Parts: sequence; C-alpha cells; structure tokens
Amino acid sequence: MNDNRSVIEEINSIYGGRERLAYVRSFGCQLNVSDGEKIKGLLSEMGFGFTEDETKADLIILNTCAVRESAEDRVFGIVGSMKKLKELKPSLIIGIAGCMTAQSHIAEKIKKSYPQVDIVLGTSAISGLPALLLDRLRGVRFGEDIAEYGDFSAAVPQIRESAFKASVPIMFGCNNFCTYCIVPYVRGRERSRRPEDIIAEVRGLAAQGYNEIMLLGQNVNSYGNDLGGEMSFPQLLREINAIEGDFIIRFMSSHPKDASDELIDAIFDCEKVAKHLHLPVQSGSDDVLRRMNRRYTAEKYLSIVDRIYERDPDFSLTTDIIVGFPDETDEDFRATLDIIKRVRYDNIYSFIYSKRSGTKAAEMPDSTSDEEKSCRMRELLEVQREISSEHYKRFIGRTMRVLADDVSKKKKGFLTGKSNEFIIVEFEGDESLIGQFVDVEITGAMNWAVTGRIVGR
Ligand code: 5AD
Ligand code: SF4
Repeated sequence: MNDNRSVIEEINSIYGGRERLAYVRSFGCQLNVSDGEKIKGLLSEMGFGFTEDETKADLIILNTCAVRESAEDRVFGIVGSMKKLKELKPSLIIGIAGCMTAQSHIAEKIKKSYPQVDIVLGTSAISGLPALLLDRLRGVRFGEDIAEYGDFSAAVPQIRESAFKASVPIMFGCNNFCTYCIVPYVRGRERSRRPEDIIAEVRGLAAQGYNEIMLLGQNVNSYGNDLGGEMSFPQLLREINAIEGDFIIRFMSSHPKDASDELIDAIFDCEKVAKHLHLPVQSGSDDVLRRMNRRYTAEKYLSIVDRIYERDPDFSLTTDIIVGFPDETDEDFRATLDIIKRVRYDNIYSFIYSKRSGTKAAEMPDSTSDEEKSCRMRELLEVQREISSEHYKRFIGRTMRVLADDVSKKKKGFLTGKSNEFIIVEFEGDESLIGQFVDVEITGAMNWAVTGRIVGR
C-alpha cells in the first residue's frame, strides 16, 4: 500500500482539482463483488467519485467472471459497445479486471480485438491498479498487470456496496480441480487469510453495525489447510460467533467432500450462524460425479444431509446443479431429479454446462444436443418449483427473523428480506426498515418466497 502512496499523489496532481468519476461493474460470484469493492476503495483513494452512468465516467472498470461462457460473452458485448463512448470521449480509460483476464487466450483477444481497452488487471493484482492508471495517464497506451501480489488483495481498502451486509473473504483460490471448472486456473491455489485478520475485520464490521457477515471462499471447508492445523473452518466459525454484536453469520461455499461433523456441530452450536447450508451437489449420478472429479457419491452426499436432518428435519439446504455435463445420459439426469426430490432443497441454482477451455471436461466427448440440455433444464426447474412451493409451507404459522433488504419489485408498499434460513420473505413495511431485523409471522408460501406480516422488531 505504501508503495502506492506516491503514485496516488501523482495521479491526484495530474487530475488537479478536476472532478473525476469511475464506473465499476462486477460480474459473477460474491468474491468478485468483494474484489470490486476493493477496486472502488483504491479508486476513492485516488480521488475518484462513482457513477452508475458509464457515459459520465472518466474511468470504466469491468470486473469480469469466467465461470461460464455466457458471462464472458456479455462482457465482450459491453466492451464492444464502449468503443463509441471512447470515440466521444478520447480521455476515457477502460480497464478489464477479474477472472477473464487470467486466461491468456482471453487477455490476447482483448489486446488484439478491443483497442479501446487501456488496462488489463489480474485477480491477484488489484493493488497494482494505481501504477497502471498512472502509466496510462502519462501516455503509455496499454497497461497490463497480472502478477501475484503476495498478500493478494486482502489489505486493500474497500468501499462496501451495502451498509448492513458485508462479505469477508476468508480464503482465495481453489485446489479441487472439478473437471468443468475454470476457477483453479484463474484464481490459483488455496490461500487462507490469517485468522486474526479475519476476526479483526469482522469485529470492525460488527462495531459499525453490520447485520450480516458473509464469509467467502471457493471451499470454506478447507480453510486453514495451509495454516499447519492452526485453525479449521468450524473453529473459525466459533471464534467469529463469539464476537460481540447483533449479526448473522453466513458462509459460502462448502464442498461436500469436506463437510465434517465438526462443521455441522458448529452450525447448530453457534447462535449467530444461520441455520442454512449451501451444499453444491452438481449431479445425482455417481458416474457424472466421478467424471466431474467431485470425490463423493450420491450416497455419501445423502449421508451428510441425513446427519443434518437428524438434528433438524426442517433445516434449510440449497445447492448448485450442472445440467448437461458432457455425455450426461437421461438416466444420469433422472438421478439428479431423484436427489433433488429426496433432499427437498429450499432453492437450487442450476446452470447448463458451459465448456471452459483448459479444463479437463473440455476434452471430453459430448453427444447430448443443446436442445436436450435445455429441455432437461426446464424439467429440473419445474420439479424444483413444485418442491419449493410445497416445502415452504412448513414455515406457515412460524415467526421468522428477517433482515429487510429491499423494497419489493412486485408489490407496492411491501419489502423483501432474507430469513435466517435464507428464504426470501415478502411483507408489508416502510422503507425505513431496510437494513434492520424484523420478526415476520409467515402466512403464505409461493414457489420463490414466503409472505407474512411484521409482528415485532
Ligand atoms: N458450466 C456450468 N456451470 C458451472 N459452474 C462452475 N463451472 C461451470 C461450468 N463450466 C457452476 C457450479 C458451481 C457454480 C458456482 O457454478 O455449479 O458450483
Ligand atoms: Fe470450481 Fe470445484 Fe473449486 Fe468450486 S470446488 S471453485 S466448482 S474447482
């Protein structure tokens, strides 16, 4: 950071007293959103204000996602359309950050085909942004920094999107190499943050009145594996639970192969930890799971679910599903439907398989047509809608503690929020309640949310 100080001063003097605005847009997962908040933190130190209108911006940063091709296509579309903006305002600086930049063929494509782009910034190089920007302001036409900066981006200041919900990365990278996934290639190997740094950050957020802390990692269950046994994830949860304050602790994601009894015990023992677990299953077919390199079987996965339901039969589970993995047969897909019906998830996040160049699955033959994959996706969503609307009925008559987080887009005068169990709750209420916990008595269930009325605060 100190290295950046003189750079920041020089940038300040180049701009003089002139107002400068940045437009920063993050795509993809919450870790990327958290990186976007750090990009904003750095830009703010350089005297930038922020705008949601890219035509007003002096600097545009697109913080990209590479997990599926559709996300990349969207970014290319947006960058393409920015050529016009640049023609209208030649001083505009355009930067591409995030996971797309870590794939060399994509970085090449950007340099070759999108001359309007000035800066390419790697996922571990966020703190290098001031230096790149300064180069550009001094007239260097293209700047690229995809180097690793030792202590990654954790120490960079942050401008948080929300005043009551905060994400806290606890680790970076992934060692699992699921055969469909680009993450280990673009985010590198697992690096755990120091427990005392995480605890100090959460303590600070709690003192500022944040109501929800989301601990983030590609696989939080392997937190601490690189810290020589000093602290495991369940231990970290207990430490954070002991921090004073009225806040709820969530975490994402948990790989089923590492979901231990200690984790389940910590969830049930810690009163601040949400009674919800996101446990990505990806597929219900053992053959597909093996080819995905997930390192568990459907039976092993269900044994974890059973252990949770033994403690609380109403416990809330959500999952990720990939439809149409290479050569997924109809029988494989039926096995996925079976596991969904058996677990009765409150919600699923489902994706049609997207081929990622450089991954093992990209080399696998795939004879299933796109039409067939779309058809399976529709069936999956239909089955899940039925499960959700049925399963949500268990909440009717209960009072849920809900963090109000937005006005309802569908009903005037109504708010939406998330219950402790991560269920969307819709209820009548004034906007002034946004950011606060309210008690809502549940009176109805839909297939995407439950509804109710406020009975206390
Ligand atoms: N295609 C489709 N979905 C993918 N995911 C990860 N990689 C791919 C891919 N290549 C999904 C997985 C993961 C979620 C974050 O994104 O379900 O859990
Ligand atoms: Fe990708 Fe698997 Fe790592 Fe998740 S655990 S980030 S799906 S490689």
